[in-house]
Amino acid sequence: MITNDKFVELARTYGTPLFVYDGDLMLERYRELFSFIPCRRLHIHYALKANYNPALLTLLRDAGSGIDAVSPGEVALALALGFSPDRIIYTANNMTDAEFDRVMKTGVTVNIGSLSRLKKCADKYPGSRICLRFNPDVCDGDNAMTMTGGDLTKFGIMLADADEAARIAGSGNLHIIGLHEHTGSGLQHAESVLKSMDNLMEIATKERFAELEFLDFGGGFKVPYKDDETRIDYVDMGRKINEKFDRFCEKYGKELLMRFEPGKYLSAECGTLIVEVNTIKHNRSRVIAGCNSGFPQLIRPVLYGAYHKIENLTNPDGIPSLYDVCGNICETGDRFAEQRLLPEIREYDLLAVKNAGAYCYSMGSVYNLRPMPAEVVIADNKVADFRKAQSDEELVAGILRK
Ligand code: LLP
Repeated sequence: MITNDKFVELARTYGTPLFVYDGDLMLERYRELFSFIPCRRLHIHYALKANYNPALLTLLRDAGSGIDAVSPGEVALALALGFSPDRIIYTANNMTDAEFDRVMKTGVTVNIGSLSRLKKCADKYPGSRICLRFNPDVCDGDNAMTMTGGDLTKFGIMLADADEAARIAGSGNLHIIGLHEHTGSGLQHAESVLKSMDNLMEIATKERFAELEFLDFGGGFKVPYKDDETRIDYVDMGRKINEKFDRFCEKYGKELLMRFEPGKYLSAECGTLIVEVNTIKHNRSRVIAGCNSGFPQLIRPVLYGAYHKIENLTNPDGIPSLYDVCGNICETGDRFAEQRLLPEIREYDLLAVKNAGAYCYSMGSVYNLRPMPAEVVIADNKVADFRKAQSDEELVAGILRK
């Protein structure tokens, strides 16, 4: 565990804003999944979109993880870091023909989520081995924008089209080696995972899909963001997942591989963004703590109304008061927290924004032309990797490049 003193030391050494990742915690979360889900044929494919830090990816690669990639860029990064093509699944939606061709050439399994793309695949790549993504028809997630299942979203082939999918696949002698579903991110109810599994298994009959090697149930495992949020009982859920899968394999007549694609579960809690407060302002009704980062570097509060716990690293025992913790971007919504009770914040205090390991750096941008922060990875309790921030000059050179 990285202590608050260590966070302060890292901030003093490397400067702020600074993303700090606890690689040991990420590996602990990875291994936990294998103890929760007692299936010998479980493969975890980390959803790289959550955090693409190369040092973290290398730790996961060495631990045996595969990758869930959603763009040719993500496939290219995973391959460059030595993930073997058979441990990468490419699940893009609305991909272009050129993207499809590029990934088919790599030997990575492509996960097709529309009948239209399936037809094109049958015509152009007859005999190939592919996976089909279905919409599990279950709505869950931590907010409307991260619910993936259900008929209002763009994802996957509808379950009712399973026969048509099998027919199209047959027309091109495609080998359907896997079926996939992803219900949403930050799933609130364990039952949703089980219901989605049921729905996918219902269409995964030997008559329709005789050559299955795996079923992939996506990601979505929730982690608590608030202190009073309860952790889902993953031991109980894992046992139910396993029993369900065993029953399915028995019926199907073959021991298939079980795959999950967690992003948040592995990386959210391992990340912390350290920022420095440079301005305290007493506006009429609010005290503003203005810091040297902003929503382009951690967008979840603005985009989803997400809660990220904040700690005052350098004045933890200060008298608590209400603050708006704001960033340095020219927009009113540029806040990490609104009316948050925090120990007294003084100028030059260091704040830690917690659970910043998933969908923070990876959703970052250089809006207002502020380069993304440096990143430090801790593994084996020491600094394993440091990735420095781009300088303003490098950022400008990139913009002027033709
Ligand atoms: N598999 C597929 C096909 C996905 O689309 C996703 C996430 C995952 C796996 C991993 O889901 P996770 O285990 O991380 O929940 N930016 C949002 C989350 C978007 C998730 C997109 N897809 C957020 O910050 O909450």
